[in-house]
Amino acid sequence: MLTTLKKVLADADRRTYAVGAFNTNNLEITQAIIGAAVEMRSPVIIQTSEGAVEYAGMNYLKAMVYEAAKAKVPVVFHLDHGKDLKVVKAAIDHGYTSVMYDGSALPDKENTANTRKVVAWAKKKGVSVEAEIGAIAGIEDFVSVEEKDAHLTNPERALAFVKATGCDALAIAVGTLHGAFKFKGETVLDYERIGAIKKLVKMPLVLHGASGISPELVERAKDRCSILGDCARLENAHGVSDEAIAKAVKRGINKINIDSDLRIAFTAAVRETLMNDKKAFDPRKILGPARALMTEVVKHKMALFGSAGKA
Ligand code: G3H
Ligand code: 13P
Ligand code: ZN
Repeated sequence: MLTTLKKVLADADRRTYAVGAFNTNNLEITQAIIGAAVEMRSPVIIQTSEGAVEYAGMNYLKAMVYEAAKAKVPVVFHLDHGKDLKVVKAAIDHGYTSVMYDGSALPDKENTANTRKVVAWAKKKGVSVEAEIGAIAGIEDFVSVEEKDAHLTNPERALAFVKATGCDALAIAVGTLHGAFKFKGETVLDYERIGAIKKLVKMPLVLHGASGISPELVERAKDRCSILGDCARLENAHGVSDEAIAKAVKRGINKINIDSDLRIAFTAAVRETLMNDKKAFDPRKILGPARALMTEVVKHKMALFGSAGKA
């Protein structure tokens, strides 16, 4: 059933687990996400970026997610990283049950003012709002403690921000970053910072850039890449380890965003199919295995995040 972010995260916060927020762009990804949620009896957040909206259109995305939400598990239809206020407003008007307004690149004052505006629009329609403060960037990129403190989320600034905006969930910067190249090797996250923010703001916290970039799937994608050409650059891919995710959840993370892991699973399966069956030209034979592999990835996340069995 379709529900709001506020509702699913309230339970996650109370019982110390996280709900996975998976990015979709098409039918196969959507079916993989909802299929896993049903199998795992897990609440789930299906989210679309502004890029997905541009690619597929809000009406198609809505039709797919609303169909998925007929399943007997809680489903949140969420806009990921809404930076353009026009897109955020359109999502609220189109039937998204939750939106992220991402003003993290703006000065605090502007981010706060825009987030307040979004909260006012959203409240009228019963839509939840996720907002962000801090710059999502890898800790390894900062050379000094001062530099790190200036970029990662500051607990006091976070408290002032949530009080001023009335948002329902807060995305924080604690060392993760988007994409497949997060760390040089081991995961480096600022767990103390997560705990300190949680202690002060006492609300659901969101971890972006949380893909694990499974070495096994990268290997499968890479083998094919090296034959087919252009993604040998996956060579230095490193994600957030499962152990780090479990620690982050214990310290108060309640929503975990995953996109890159689905992209890698999709690519690995499609490349394998095309390599193994040179005669394949039926899209269902090419995309079916990708859907199946993405389902397995999402199931693994739901078990890891502790949301399995909570629906
Ligand atoms: O956080 C970004 C997500 O991975 C979405 O990426 O803007 O390429 O759809 P995208
Ligand atoms: P990944 O690139 O780690 O999958 O992060 C996705 C994300 O944060 C979407 O908002
Ligand atoms: Zn993100």
